[in-house]
Amino acid sequence: MQQNSTWVPLFPEQASTFASDVDNLYFYLIAISAFFTIGIVAALFYFTIRYREREKYATGAEIHGSIGLETFWSIVPFIISMTIFLGGAVVYYNQYRVPADAMEIYVVGKQWMWKFQHQTGQREINELHIPVGQKVKLTMTTEDVLHDVSIPAFRTKADVVPGRYTTIWFEATKPGKYHLYCAEYCGLNHSGMGGWVYVMEQRDFDNWLSGTVSGQTPVEAGKDLFENKLGCSSCHQQNDQGRGPKLAGIYGKDQKLASGQTVTANDDYIRNSILNPTTQIVEGYQPIMPTFKGQVTEEQLVSLVAYIKSLSTNAAGASGSSTSTNSMSGSANQTNTTSGGSNTNLVAPRADRGDSNSQGSNPNAPKQNSEPTNSNKGGGNR
Ligand code: CUA
Repeated sequence: MQQNSTWVPLFPEQASTFASDVDNLYFYLIAISAFFTIGIVAALFYFTIRYREREKYATGAEIHGSIGLETFWSIVPFIISMTIFLGGAVVYYNQYRVPADAMEIYVVGKQWMWKFQHQTGQREINELHIPVGQKVKLTMTTEDVLHDVSIPAFRTKADVVPGRYTTIWFEATKPGKYHLYCAEYCGLNHSGMGGWVYVMEQRDFDNWLSGTVSGQTPVEAGKDLFENKLGCSSCHQQNDQGRGPKLAGIYGKDQKLASGQTVTANDDYIRNSILNPTTQIVEGYQPIMPTFKGQVTEEQLVSLVAYIKSLSTNAAGASGSSTSTNSMSGSANQTNTTSGGSNTNLVAPRADRGDSNSQGSNPNAPKQNSEPTNSNKGGGNR
């Protein structure tokens, strides 16, 4: 399955829509480098021989510059460097501007494993199953240090940064099994922090989804945390009467803050509002929300974000059924047996590194929101 199908030895397969663009740019850079390296070295040898010392203390002819030559060797490098810049910009914009219809998968890095969570509730460790020919978006964060997702066959990689979400997307072009690496040194077992991406035909992928135990979907887990485990809903009510702002419909919209700033309610905003609530107070509300730092894991935060997002994407989101966020192509008629609550939903066999904090069972979570955090210190002055 891993036979090399490119014409260049040692190169990984080209298995995404980006691959040929990235390779072409790369070969272009190599060609330019080779051209100048060979040209300069050849000229060096030619000149050392042609202008070797033939007569002691000879003086060379004086040269007073040449407008034509100088213009030539200014313009040509300028044009070459602009082609490099433009080629790089095109590849970059393609890769880092995520299309809206991409299927979202949550990724949490952790020393030393990758955890993947599908919208339909399937969870995997160090393995990622995706359908061929479909845009896939990874929303990524880490529980500890900096990691970096790298999938060479897709020609994509991106840092996974503590305290924020990064996203990449890709569309696999042929079924197969491709290496997944951590590409940022992250400690002792960094080299072991990898796995496989399985690209499957849509039908096989649907089979895989239906044949895999799916736990709570991220939206369901988030709703559970929001309403029961963390008690967010006691302040953030469905109407405007709560002590905290209503969250339905905010996702993707601009929020006016007490500081006068306006921010867009994206994933990072929601995450920050849970962990550092006093830094971005919504206009008209008091800085009374306690921080949930240390009480929620990154996976739980991802679920909360997914839930709050779902409140904006469909009005009935509060009913939180697993079908409500099924962003797979309509052909996915899987029968998800949502085994509510049980956390036996790790798909991959390699759970031997002690993944104890499964979704939804946070032992030290929900003490009643008692201690108010000191109010506006550093509030919204960014
Ligand atoms: Cu994670 Cu290197």
